[in-house]
Amino acid sequence: MRINKYIAHAGVASRRKAEELIMQGLVTINGQKVTALATTVKSGDVVEVEGQPIYNEEKVYYLLNKPRGVISSVSDDKGRKTVIDLLPEVKERIYPVGRLDWDTTGLLILTNDGDFTDKMIHPRNEIDKVYVARLKGIANKENLRPLTRGLLIDGKKTKPARYRILKVEPDKNRSLVELTIHEGRNHQVKKMFEAVGLLVDKLSRTRFGTLDLTGLRPGESRRLNKKEISQLHNAATQGN
Ligand code: URA
Repeated sequence: MRINKYIAHAGVASRRKAEELIMQGLVTINGQKVTALATTVKSGDVVEVEGQPIYNEEKVYYLLNKPRGVISSVSDDKGRKTVIDLLPEVKERIYPVGRLDWDTTGLLILTNDGDFTDKMIHPRNEIDKVYVARLKGIANKENLRPLTRGLLIDGKKTKPARYRILKVEPDKNRSLVELTIHEGRNHQVKKMFEAVGLLVDKLSRTRFGTLDLTGLRPGESRRLNKKEISQLHNAATQGN
């Protein structure tokens, strides 16, 4: 495998960044500085980046039903609970595929596969991310229509989304709406509903491409199997 690909696979840097590291003379194979970008790594070679050995771990994929009150990062300098704390002991260096807010619950994938992650989150691949939001206010076709056309959040137009009104409770002045988007901008669902005048009170992700949370209670996780992973890869090319 080409050295830049090997470094990217190990999750240390993107391929382009890996090339920069090589050109800066920071990469060695078996103690010898790598100078040519075309250098390949053979089995048994020891690759070091900035003096640290790197390992090409087996790629692993986990599905977590994230509860409220947990942050979607690998570590937290304020000592708050992270999604990694919820998984059983995993020796690979996994991280979440995109983020869910601290107070958002539901479906989160974790992996150490950078190429998979890029594929899952790139809007071009049109993978469905399905959310159910409890909203303050009454949702109807008129106020939700802009969601399907795209609306401005943080100065940038969102891609068209789909919605389904699941429940409207006029006496409680609240509604339950399912929203399907293909992007993953910061607080995107909350901001989209806010832009149409409805505040998100509770938010949960119920589906990601071909995956849902069947059989997983909040806080529970499991490994994804080969079939599920290949279905996700297919969803990235077919858009669902
Ligand atoms: N959109 C949000 O606003 N929050 C999330 O956690 C995910 C999507």
